[in-house]
Amino acid sequence: MRKNNKDYSLSNLNLQTQRVLSGMRPSGRLHLGHYHGVLKNWVKLQHQHECFFFVADWHVLTTHYDNPSIIEQSLWDMVIDWLAAGVNPGSATMFIQSKVPDHAELHLLLSMLTPVSWLERAPTYKEQQDKLANKDLSTYGFLGYPLLQTADILMYKAGAVPVGQDQVPHVEMSREIARRFNHYYGKKPGFEQKAEAAIKKLGKKNAKLYNALRKDFTQEGNEESFDKAHALIEGHASISLGDKERLVGYLDGGGKIILPEPQAMLTPVSKMPGLDGQKMSKSYNNVIEMRESDESIEKKIKRMQTDPARVRLTDPGDPNNCPVWQLHEVYSTVKIKEWVTEGCKSAGIGCLECKGPVIECIKQETTEFRERAKEFEESPDLVKNIISEGTERARVIAKETMQDVRDVMGLSYR
Ligand code: TRP
Ligand code: SF4
Repeated sequence: MRKNNKDYSLSNLNLQTQRVLSGMRPSGRLHLGHYHGVLKNWVKLQHQHECFFFVADWHVLTTHYDNPSIIEQSLWDMVIDWLAAGVNPGSATMFIQSKVPDHAELHLLLSMLTPVSWLERAPTYKEQQDKLANKDLSTYGFLGYPLLQTADILMYKAGAVPVGQDQVPHVEMSREIARRFNHYYGKKPGFEQKAEAAIKKLGKKNAKLYNALRKDFTQEGNEESFDKAHALIEGHASISLGDKERLVGYLDGGGKIILPEPQAMLTPVSKMPGLDGQKMSKSYNNVIEMRESDESIEKKIKRMQTDPARVRLTDPGDPNNCPVWQLHEVYSTVKIKEWVTEGCKSAGIGCLECKGPVIECIKQETTEFRERAKEFEESPDLVKNIISEGTERARVIAKETMQDVRDVMGLSYR
C-alpha cells in the first residue's frame, strides 16, 4: 500500500532505513557556502543512512552544451572537496552519473509517459531560461532536466532526497512520475475488475465521489484527494476489508509499487554569508573556497567592509549593519559575540580586532579541509578509484531496477 508523507514522518524506523540519494552539478572548487549549506549535511547523513552521492555531469550539459571543456576539471575538483569535507567512501557511495548509462535508458523510458506540460510547468524551466537569456535553452535536453533528475532518483529507489528549496519541485515531479509509472505498470492481473466491482459496492453517490477523487489524485497529483478518498473508504461500514484494501490500492494504480515515491528532505537553510553580507555565491564574487590558503583568507576578511558608521576607531557601530557580524553568528561562541556587540557599540574595539576570531575559526576549519584534501591532490588515482568503486556499486542497483522496468514495460524478450 502507498506510503504518503504522513506515514513516513510517523515512522522512525522507516526514516532510518531510507536510502538517501543526492546529486550535484560539477561547478569546480566548492566554497564555504557549499560546505555549510550541503556537504555538512551529507557528512551527517552518511552515518544515519545508506547514502549515494553523485556528480550530475549530464545535467551540466543541459545548460552548458556549448562549453563541455569545463566539465572534467570541475568534476575532480568537486569530488576532492566532498572528500575534504569528510564524505567518506567507506560510508557513502560516490559516483558519476554518465558512468552509469542506465540513467539515460530510464530517462528515455520515463519520457514515454511524461506529459510535456509537467516539464513546462517546472518553475526552474522559465526561471533559468530568463536568467540565462544569452543562451538558447529552448532545447529538448533542457526541458527534460527534471526528468533526468527523476531517473537519477527513481533508479536507486531512494526514499529521501536531500535538496535545497529550489529543487523541491523536481523531487515532487519525480513523485508524480513514479505514481504514474506504478499506475500503468504496477497492476496485478484481474486487479482492475475486482476494484471496479468494489467501487460499485460503495453505492452510487460514494462511487461517483470515489472516482472523482481518484482521478484528481492520479491525474493531477492532488494528495488531498487521496486523503479524502482514503477517509471515504475507511468510513464505509458495509464493505469487506479485502475490498477496502483493493480500493486504497486502486487509488494509485494496482497496488504493486515498482518505483517507490521519494521524499524531498529539505536541507536546513544555511546562513552562510559571503564577504559582502549577501549569500555566498560564485556569481557574487564573495566566496571563500574550502581549500583557500590562510594568507588569502586573512587578506579577504581584513578587506571586508564593516559598519559604514565606524569611520574612526572612536565611532561606535552596530553589528546589525556589518557583514563581519554575520560571520560571527556562524562561527563565534556566545562569549565572543558578547564581546563584539559590547565592543562595537561602545567603540571599545577596532574592526580589525573584531575580525580576528573569525579569521582564526575559518582558518581552522579550512586547515582541516586542506589536510584531508592533500593526499587526494597528490594522487588523483586515489580519487578515481573511489569513484570507480562507487560507480560499480551504483551499477549493481541500476541493473536491478532496469530489469524490473524493462519487464513491466514489455521489453524483456531476448
Ligand atoms: N538538479 C540538482 C541541482 O541542481 C542536481 C541533481 C541532479 C540532483 N540529479 C539529482 C539532486 C538527483 C538530487 C537528486 O542541484
Ligand atoms: Fe563590524 Fe566588528 Fe567593526 Fe562592529 S566592530 S563594525 S561588528 S567589524
